[in-house]
Amino acid sequence: MPNITIKDFIQENSNYLRQYQIPNPEHDVALILSHYLQIEYLELFLQPNRMIMEDEPLLPIFYQAGKENCLPARLRQAIEERSTRKPLQYILGNVHFANCYLEVNESVLIPRPETEFMVDYIRRNEVSPKYILDLGTGSGAVAIALKKYFPRSQVYAIDICQRALQMAKQNAKLNNCEIKFLRSNLFVKFFSSGLKFDLIVSNPPYVNIKDYPTLQPEIFFEPKKALVAKDQGLFFLKKIISSIPTFLSNHGVLYLEIGSEQKKDLTRFINQRGWKNFWFIQDLQGLDRILKISSTLDVE
Ligand SMILES: C[S@@+](CC[C@H](N)C(=O)[O-])C[C@H]1O[C@@H](n2cnc3c(N)ncnc32)[C@H](O)[C@@H]1O
Repeated sequence: MPNITIKDFIQENSNYLRQYQIPNPEHDVALILSHYLQIEYLELFLQPNRMIMEDEPLLPIFYQAGKENCLPARLRQAIEERSTRKPLQYILGNVHFANCYLEVNESVLIPRPETEFMVDYIRRNEVSPKYILDLGTGSGAVAIALKKYFPRSQVYAIDICQRALQMAKQNAKLNNCEIKFLRSNLFVKFFSSGLKFDLIVSNPPYVNIKDYPTLQPEIFFEPKKALVAKDQGLFFLKKIISSIPTFLSNHGVLYLEIGSEQKKDLTRFINQRGWKNFWFIQDLQGLDRILKISSTLDVE
């Protein structure tokens, strides 16, 4: 790549990505540049004529053994990866979630704004739960954000995937959070513990297998097991709801992220138990994306 200004780099490469139907390509190219130059996104646009030199070295924090440590080569590689629809968060290896900086790789789901909304809702509506459980922690996003909001709480986080747990532990360290991580299939590890939680939070897999092929291409880079569930996507949601009497404390609450089409089935499922203390919370687009159930399980 010959010497090129920031402005021309953004223009040329977003035209290139546009051919691959990348939504918002200028934004992605600018984020790649801002990452590798380690300058603020907006600052890029204040220095459009800064040159990227053809032999400019990478910043040392990005050196990788056995790879070409030259800035233009690394930028090219990132643009090529994005042209395959690989999510930018996996290419850059990080994401901002709620009040945290998290590292991500392809063994964990990229934390979503819907989940951030749920965590923020909990922050605004719950008062210092003593014991918190994040079920299916993935990158650790929910557990870490909640530990920061409720520093006196004891936070447990479980996942069935060992590689996800490694990433979550690394992220907890990065954010100075003490969290107890366990590998477990749902609640299995807790059955003989006698533990009850004041707050259980989960963003479990809830995509109906039938809908999976219709999702946007970026999603196919994410672990399928983190997304898809049997029983029209309801398998884990129902399992977790059924565990309330065993694992939620007297005044505890369960929060579940759900698919926007699942309200009716879940209402029927909860009604069958005669429970009354449950609410669906709408996100900023007016979609029912959170189910809250209180353990004061009034039965009709
Ligand atoms: C939708 S992802 C959520 C990840 C993270 N909590 C977030 O919101 O970004 C679901 C997570 O549940 C985990 N999972 C799937 N089946 C599980 C099971 N049977 N027991 C525990 N965790 C499971 C997956 O490995 C994945 O990390």
